[in-house]
Amino acid sequence: MLTLGIETSCDETAISVVDEGEVLSGAIASSVKFHKAFGGIIPEIASRSHVESISYVLKEALDEGGVALKDIELISVTQGPGLPGSLLVGIAFAKALALSLSVPLIGVNHVIAHLYANFMNGTKVRFPFVGLVVSGGHTSLIYAEAVDHYTILGQTHDDAAGEAFDKVAKIMNLGYPGGPIIEERAAKVKSAEMRFPRSYLGPNSLDFSFSGIKTSVLYYVRDHKKRGGVQWQNQINEICHAFQSAVCEVLINKAIAACNRKGADSLMVGGGVSANGALRKGLAESTEAEGISLWLSPKEMCTDNASMIAGFGEALYKKGVRSAFDITAIPDMGI
Ligand code: KG4
Ligand code: ZN
Repeated sequence: MLTLGIETSCDETAISVVDEGEVLSGAIASSVKFHKAFGGIIPEIASRSHVESISYVLKEALDEGGVALKDIELISVTQGPGLPGSLLVGIAFAKALALSLSVPLIGVNHVIAHLYANFMNGTKVRFPFVGLVVSGGHTSLIYAEAVDHYTILGQTHDDAAGEAFDKVAKIMNLGYPGGPIIEERAAKVKSAEMRFPRSYLGPNSLDFSFSGIKTSVLYYVRDHKKRGGVQWQNQINEICHAFQSAVCEVLINKAIAACNRKGADSLMVGGGVSANGALRKGLAESTEAEGISLWLSPKEMCTDNASMIAGFGEALYKKGVRSAFDITAIPDMGI
């Protein structure tokens, strides 16, 4: 079964062709370079870029997969959550394609789709499991019982983990997106004496809060920036290390707590922040100690892509799920 996945929830225009979970192609046009100067995504720029790129991205995905448009049998598109204008571009495009090809359409949840990055290319889904989605827009612990049955165990009260990385990078003028830059800076120091507070929101909470860590970095930088020179450059690396350690520690401990609470023996991780090497290493160590099997998305599929959208759509289709042609964007789509 050839499924076309379409993803336009944020700044990536992505289209993939997937055949029974096998990724045949994945084309992506990112508008990130246009947002860099602003230190964050500008929704109007993102949606205009989707309109400009989407037809070319489709052509690239079909060519790379060696597939003709007429052979596509299912269209899966991100319905939410995401930026309204950006989502609408992908959904309108998906509807037009599905109507013209007379094939079914499925609107999928982007957050859950991040977990499907673990199940592509022959990896078999085993339910139930606990999912940790850590991205620029979401930090969610999810209990997955079936392809079409998910419950939220915990989520962020304020900044998402990736958002905190982006904001901390902005505080130090390091560039955007902040995650990869902070990881690279943090790797330049072995350990940091500096320590930022961890927020656990109480001993039994599976929710997250990262705005306190971010504010601590802001105050630290405000008080120490004056030093300049090599000394300040070294401090930037140490700040990155200390910040990254604080975020990773909370994510790891809460993910393990969620598995223990549900008696789950598998943890699936996805989303842009799950590309972070320190997080991956920490999760591997902690899950091994607890006897939990860990599934980490392949690095190239941690950030936004359309293969995960196609894969999730295909799985839902097999469960009998279909979307009507009047679906629209759900910017705050829940689970
Ligand atoms: O999943 P994603 O591509 O988009 C959303 O759905 O939000 O995630 C993007 C986020 C950004 O905040 C980015 O800074 C973060 O993922 N990110 C990272 C790393 N690579 C991307 N955060 C930490 N370490 C990384 N290596
Ligand atoms: Zn995402």
